[in-house]
Amino acid sequence: MPTFNQAYWEERYKNDQAQWDTGTVTPPIKEYIDQLSDKTKRILVPGAGNGHEFEYLVTQDFKNAVMLDIAKEPLANVAKRLPELDAARLIHADFFEHNATYDLIIEQTFFCALSPELRDAYMTKAHSLLAPGGKIAGLLFDFPLTEQGPPFGGSREEYIALFGNLFKITMLHRAYNSIKPRAERELFFIFEKK
Ligand SMILES: C[S@@+](CC[C@H](N)C(=O)[O-])C[C@H]1O[C@@H](n2cnc3c(N)ncnc32)[C@H](O)[C@@H]1O
Repeated sequence: MPTFNQAYWEERYKNDQAQWDTGTVTPPIKEYIDQLSDKTKRILVPGAGNGHEFEYLVTQDFKNAVMLDIAKEPLANVAKRLPELDAARLIHADFFEHNATYDLIIEQTFFCALSPELRDAYMTKAHSLLAPGGKIAGLLFDFPLTEQGPPFGGSREEYIALFGNLFKITMLHRAYNSIKPRAERELFFIFEKK
């Protein structure tokens, strides 16, 4: 299996191979953000790519939301779209080396982009980045995990086994408002730090 490192992702952006990019905030994430009332929440969008979910948070006035990506190009794209934004909110870093404290982590097609052997590390890293009672919420794919990817699949059972020790599984169900190409293939979830 190739290594999905910074060079791999930089290359995908350079070759215009960001097929995961939906061009706008996806409905499940938008609906979740829309019911958040505390605009001061410290929110991280890791592996945020071209940052449509992050941009939505910014437009909704979540002042303490940041995005992070290992590739430079998508961060530059977001900076261009949001010229007034404090550059400190666009973090160029490896998720696994990032240290800060958040109330909420928003997940969309980052977990599935990682080599499956990093799943345990993702779960423990997300746990360590969250304040007590903090949450990770978003979308996980619901199709069989094979050698093929990214995106790498997974199942409800696998996600419960992976996250269940350190997180309370508050919600994990088939998303009803997925974008068409992902319909019936993703789970909306909220996991709360134990
Ligand atoms: C499949 S894309 C998804 C982008 C975005 N979440 C979206 O929904 O459009 C995966 C993203 O994760 C980033 N990435 C991969 N490994 C990373 C890591 N270790 N730390 C931070 N970002 C990473 C890639 O550069 C890429 O932008």
